[in-house]
Amino acid sequence: MSAVETIRQRAGDTPLDAAIVLGSGLSALADALTDRVAIPYAELEGFPGHGSTGEAVSGHGRDLMIGNMGEKRVAILTGREHYYEHGNAAAMRPALEAMAELGARSLLLTNSAGSLTTRITPGNLMMLNDHINYAGMNPLIGEPTDRRFVNMVDCYDPGLRAKAHEIAKALDIELNEGVYLWYSGPSFETVAEIKMAITLGADAVGMSTAPEVIIGRMLGLKVWACSAITNMGAGLSAENISHAHTKAMAPLGAEKLQRLIPALVEAL
Ligand code: HPA
Repeated sequence: MSAVETIRQRAGDTPLDAAIVLGSGLSALADALTDRVAIPYAELEGFPGHGSTGEAVSGHGRDLMIGNMGEKRVAILTGREHYYEHGNAAAMRPALEAMAELGARSLLLTNSAGSLTTRITPGNLMMLNDHINYAGMNPLIGEPTDRRFVNMVDCYDPGLRAKAHEIAKALDIELNEGVYLWYSGPSFETVAEIKMAITLGADAVGMSTAPEVIIGRMLGLKVWACSAITNMGAGLSAENISHAHTKAMAPLGAEKLQRLIPALVEAL
């Protein structure tokens, strides 16, 4: 059975308004849904880790949660699959296609990231206004149709960004904005690579999101993305960068996203 059929069978036919993808350590955001139905990815054809016995990356969930956020019908993907897990940049494509087929018109992406500027400090948020695909891999390689030639200007929807700023101001949340550089991982960056990323014009660095933005734009979704900054990039501070540190710091950003995202969804 296709993922779309399974989801309709378990969570009903009401069309989705939005899909949200949660990054490392951000799973608590799923608590914002009411009347929710949880479906393990293992039961959803094409979803991360479907049919595998392997573990999700630690700090990531492996459930699709469908429910209501205020007046809106929302699906939350509690964890993602990364390029660094196997070298497939299109790993999230089937799941995102299912979201679009179920009616979602907006895609909200979250991640944990390292900051490259003293302007944006750990524990705070950085909304993406653009990205640099430094990993150099594109999830649309192999797509045979002209749909592959996606225009990436304003791929982070300017209207949603403006709304997010208004909401953040009203809720007294510091919402920074900047350019995200996608680094393949899974090793963290070298000090020289962080210097290069700054020279290239990036404000934060992380191991995800950019391929999902490309796929989302191909599917015609309005895309919004926000990083929870967990650390300064390698060499920019004395702290020791690690995945454990990322997971420990992410809840600071999650608390802010937990207030920001429901209000943004309501305003969609
Ligand atoms: N680099 C890449 N990815 C990350 C970082 C980082 O410093 N922090 C959290 N995710």
